[in-house]
Amino acid sequence: MKKIAVLAGDGIGPEIMAQALKILTALKLPLEFEEALVGGVAYAAFGHPLPAEVVELAKKSDAVLFGAVGDFKYDNLPRHLRPEQAILGLRKALGLFVNLRPAICYPELTAASSLKPELVSGLDLLLVRELTGDVYFGQPRGKRISPDGVFAGTEEGFDTMRYAVPEVERIAHVAFKAAMGRSKHLVSVDKANVLETSQVWRDTMIKVSKEYPEVTLEHMYVDNAAMQLVKAPKKIDVMVTGNLFGDILSDEAAMLTGSIGMLPSASLGTGNPGLFEPIHGSAPDIAGQGKANPLATILSAAMMLRLAFDMDAEAAAIEGAVHKVLSDGFRTGDIMEAGKTQLSTTAMGDKVVETM
Ligand code: IPM
Ligand code: MG
Repeated sequence: MKKIAVLAGDGIGPEIMAQALKILTALKLPLEFEEALVGGVAYAAFGHPLPAEVVELAKKSDAVLFGAVGDFKYDNLPRHLRPEQAILGLRKALGLFVNLRPAICYPELTAASSLKPELVSGLDLLLVRELTGDVYFGQPRGKRISPDGVFAGTEEGFDTMRYAVPEVERIAHVAFKAAMGRSKHLVSVDKANVLETSQVWRDTMIKVSKEYPEVTLEHMYVDNAAMQLVKAPKKIDVMVTGNLFGDILSDEAAMLTGSIGMLPSASLGTGNPGLFEPIHGSAPDIAGQGKANPLATILSAAMMLRLAFDMDAEAAAIEGAVHKVLSDGFRTGDIMEAGKTQLSTTAMGDKVVETM
């Protein structure tokens, strides 16, 4: 029996999670689920977005299935109490330094992409994002009276961008191995023309590349990478980057596929359970209306079966069913186009189960 911590979170989290659980249950696998509150709902109930018990639950589980966190109504809380701390805290507590974000454009959805169909049709790229370092977690950070410079004496906010060499090495190995299993072409994204952190990143990528002579390593500055993603995304196969750039570029990559509601992700470390979540947010504006696309969460559950439990056949069954549902013409609102049938969140979950 595998134990899964189910953390649905805020906004559309509970609706999309319910669909993923429906699909996992229909597969009749030896899985047990334990649900807990995280994010704004946990703050409302317990005064903290990531109660210690939830971290314990996650640690003793075999995998974590995560929905989404965040709600405008908590935006004025002190940062450590904001809903986003639930996911940031879990990534840190579980040491999940690898974030795999595959962006696949199903041929059926090319019309939903903001780019011309020929640019995105057949797109299949993998973004490898470092997830526990960078300016997201670097210390020191805070607010203070500016000690120097033109604005000395005024209030300022500051964060620290930093990467240690071994921290870059471990994500580099993950990315090179991923590239070995694919086209043997790796794009590393940085801003080495400006940032010291990025120079260390780039030098380390080059050093690690010596261990993977078959892989061609290409470097791109992040501004250029953002441009290449919309100019010629199919030229990119595996892309590796730091936490901040990866956050931004993965939203961009998601839109190439038609909707951010389509992209799953896996967050992995060493020794602790992995965490699987859609890359999109909690969308509080559409919560509870049955409008949310559950496919990213359903596909995240498939990634969990494959990467955490080696259940390849079952993962493929879910992915195949999602593909079939799309080719049969069923859509949620975010990917709707003329001539297709629009389904609610729940109806889309049911349709995937029925097709499977
Ligand atoms: C993501 C999200 C998170 C991040 C937020 C919710 C903290 O945008 O997973 O991409 O910035 O990493
Ligand atoms: Mg993001």
